[in-house]
This record gives sequence, structure tokens and C-alpha cells, in this order.
Amino acid sequence: MKDKLIIFDTTLRDGEQSPGASMTRDEKLRIARQLERMRVDVIEAGFAAASNGDFESVRAIAEAIKEFTVCSLARASEADIRRSGEAIAPAARGRIHTFIATSPIHMEKKLRMTPDQVVEQAVKAIGWARQFTDDVEFSAEDAGRSELDFLARIFEAVIAAGARTINVPDTVGYNVPDQFAATLRSLIERVPNADKVVWSVHCHNDLGLAVANSLAAVRVGARQVECTINGLGERAGNASLEEIVMAVRTRADIFPVETGIDTTQIVPASKLVSQITGYPVQPNKAIVGANAFAHESGIHQDGVLKHRETYEIMRAEDVGWGANKLVLGKLSGRNAFRARLIELGIEIESEEHLNHAFARFKELADKKHEIFDEDLTALMRDEAVTPELEHYRLLSSRFHSETGETPLAAITLAVGGAEKHAEAEGSGPVDAAFKAIESVVSSGSELLLYSVNAITTGTDAQGEVTVRLSRSGRVMDGQGADTDIIVASAKAYLNALNKLHAGTARLNPQVGP
Ligand code: KIV
Ligand code: ZN
Repeated sequence: MKDKLIIFDTTLRDGEQSPGASMTRDEKLRIARQLERMRVDVIEAGFAAASNGDFESVRAIAEAIKEFTVCSLARASEADIRRSGEAIAPAARGRIHTFIATSPIHMEKKLRMTPDQVVEQAVKAIGWARQFTDDVEFSAEDAGRSELDFLARIFEAVIAAGARTINVPDTVGYNVPDQFAATLRSLIERVPNADKVVWSVHCHNDLGLAVANSLAAVRVGARQVECTINGLGERAGNASLEEIVMAVRTRADIFPVETGIDTTQIVPASKLVSQITGYPVQPNKAIVGANAFAHESGIHQDGVLKHRETYEIMRAEDVGWGANKLVLGKLSGRNAFRARLIELGIEIESEEHLNHAFARFKELADKKHEIFDEDLTALMRDEAVTPELEHYRLLSSRFHSETGETPLAAITLAVGGAEKHAEAEGSGPVDAAFKAIESVVSSGSELLLYSVNAITTGTDAQGEVTVRLSRSGRVMDGQGADTDIIVASAKAYLNALNKLHAGTARLNPQVGP
């Protein structure tokens, strides 16, 4: 019998800390339901004290997920822990994950606390959390740059106080595999009550080593890995769930563990997270990249045709490739449309909402004859934008682009109810469209990122555009989808502007106390 490796997914918490990747409550719920289908053991649903929106999201997920653990992050403060405790209260299995920094630089410069004070605060935090649940996890933030003696001391103290999982984060992605494994091995050997807890790791990818470090730790005793779909996360991201799960499964000969993950749900999860956050998956990304199972060279193709295992160590269908079947078309009716949305976990609030969405679906089906799940997800994401969140709306557009001529965009917008028209020239039609929009809204924002992705295959595919804007230190991503990529670009730009217009302040857990 192999040990179980607990898969702790933090896409909804650490993943959401990627610039511009903030998600609405409903989007988080959809991802949580997909994580449930994938049989993820622990879903870190958010950081309940960060904002009312985060609190509501954690609570909604705690209500919805029955079979697996729902967790909220909390700093080691009584107020944060109370908020987390309230948010996870409806969960069938609820966990509080509390943390405090332990590296000399964080304790001295950020917390301005002595090591003794940090130990005292951590022990108190476990006591507060245990009032809400027995399932308490403790993280030593920046453990990767902390002193081993101090880590051993604080872990012994929090285990004695009732922590059940001890997490060792490489917060800034500084470690390398053999050294990180050695740290974990010595902690497990030195902490006298180490056998009372599950040892966990949480690695960031600043040196591209998050997965390697996590797997090295598993080989010496870690039995929980914290990771995210597509490796989404702060800066260069977190360890990628799909890579960890498939490495453990594919190399069962060297890993003494197995996960409970339904691997056929991996690609659907990857696509859903990418669509919701607007973070495209690079084509050569392991497991979930579009080329991950594509063989280009003739020698490889020939080998695979003769005997698949000559060049393939995993089967594409085992991770869910090939599942994006054609679902609906021009002739599909309202009932088929509604049924597919329900299967995708998309909530339909009312008959009016359904009618509106169905009319949009028919328009799309006229332009694009085959409608896939990804098209429905994009369509319903646009539908989810309520009038109060849509200060700026594209009413109509005209673009002109011809060899030897300067591209021109003419757009009509609704701005808080008033109709405005503008024209602008640009270096290309997208540039012209953005300039025309700016000539109306004068947002003062800076364009940080522009990316286009085809949602499905074929030249009639919808282009999905992500635009990242920054204004006064706030960063927002906007998405737009359309069979015309200039229209998709204008929609994405306006979506980001709407979010900047409506956005509320959030607290980042990496800041204070
Ligand atoms: O990277 C980190 O240290 C974290 C902790 C809060 C676990 O995300
Ligand atoms: Zn982290």
C-alpha cells in the first residue's frame, strides 16, 4: 500500500494573487466545482479577511462542496482567524490555514517582531483556530529562507498547540531540489512530535523549480503538496498541480505515494481556469499545453504510429485531452442550451437571463456553426456582466484596414447611459480601437499586456483577448471574446476599464502584520 499524497489546491487563493487574475464569487464557485470533479483533497477557497467579496466566496464554496475539505487562509491574528472560522462554518470539512513569517528578514523588516514573539503569536493563532475546527494548518512563511533551528522550534510549539498540518513554503522560490529535500528531511527528523502531523510543501516558481522542489520533498516525507492549476500564482507562479499529479503517477516506480485525482479532469480544469482568469496556457506547457502531446518530427510520428510508447510516456486521453466535443449548433434548441449550461455548472438566474443568453448563443451559432464548451463559457462570462458593472459598453464599431492606408477605428460606446462616438487612427486596427476608446473615456490607465488566443480550433474560432490595465497601482485584467478579434479586443479593453471603475480594495496576505 502506498501513502496518500494530499493534493491541496490554492488556485482560488494564491492563484488569484497573480496580477489581474481576480475572480468573481460565481467564477470561483465554478472552479471549485471543477476541482471537486477532479477530486482535489483540499480546496483553499480564499483569504476570508481580505475583503467582503473574499469572505462571501469562501462561504459559498464551503456551502457547495460536500466531499472534500474547504480551507481559508488567515494571518496569525485573532480577527483574521475569526473571519476564516465564520467563512468555513458551513463546510462539511473545514480547515483554517494560519501563517506567520519566520525568516530573519521577514521577522525583522516586515513584522518587526522578535523570534520569541513570533513563536508566541503562532501558538496563540493555533489556539484561536482550534475554537472553530480541529483541522488547523500552520505555515511558516518564507520557510525557504528561515533558520532550521528556528523552524524546528516553532513547528514543535504549534504541533503541541494542536496544528495538524505543517506547511513549509518556499515563498520566494529561492530553494533548489536537493537542498529543499534536505531541509524537509531534517525537520521531520528533528521535530520531536513530527509524527503527529502531515508535512506539506508550498513552492513558488521564481527559479522555475517549484515542481522539482515539491517532488523532491515528497521523496523524503512530504505528504501534502500545495499547488495550482496551470501553475497560476504570485510572480512566476506556484507549483503546477497537473505536473505534480502526473509525475507521481507516471513515475510510480520512484514515488512512494499516490493521489486520489481523477486525471481526466485535468485539461477541462486547465481550460476553465485559463478562460476565467484570462491567463493563456503556453502551447509547450507540460500536460496541458496545446502541443504537449503533438509530435512534429517525422521520426517521432513514425515511431508513435508503430508503437505509441516509443515517444509517449503518458496518454493524452488520461489527462482529459479530446474531451472538448462539439456540443451545440445552429439548430440546437433552448432546452439543449439550458441543459449544457447546467452540466457546465453555469448558474442561470432567471428565464429572462436564459432568453437573453440564448439569443446571444443563436447570434454566435450563425457566425460559427460548431459551438464548443469553451465558446459557451466565454459567452456566459460576458453575460455575467450586470448593468451596474458595465459602466462602459460597446454599442457598435467599424474598422478599416487596407494595405498602404492608415488603419482607422470608429466606435460608439455607452458611457454610464450616454452615447458617445469617436474615431481614431492607429498603427493597426487594435491600436486604433484602443485610441478611439481612450479618446472618449480618458482613463489614464497604462496597457500592461495584450494577448489573443483562439478559443477552439478552425478559422471561424472565437478569438479570446486579454487586456491588462494598470491605474494608480491597481492592476485589472479584462477579457472579451468574438469571432472578430478587433471587436474581442475592444470588449476586453472595456471589460478591464469596467473592473477598474467598479473595483473594491483587497488585502494581500503577503502584506503585514
Ligand atoms: O507563499 C507563501 O508563503 C504562502 C503562504 C501564505 C502559505 O502563500
Ligand atoms: Zn504562496
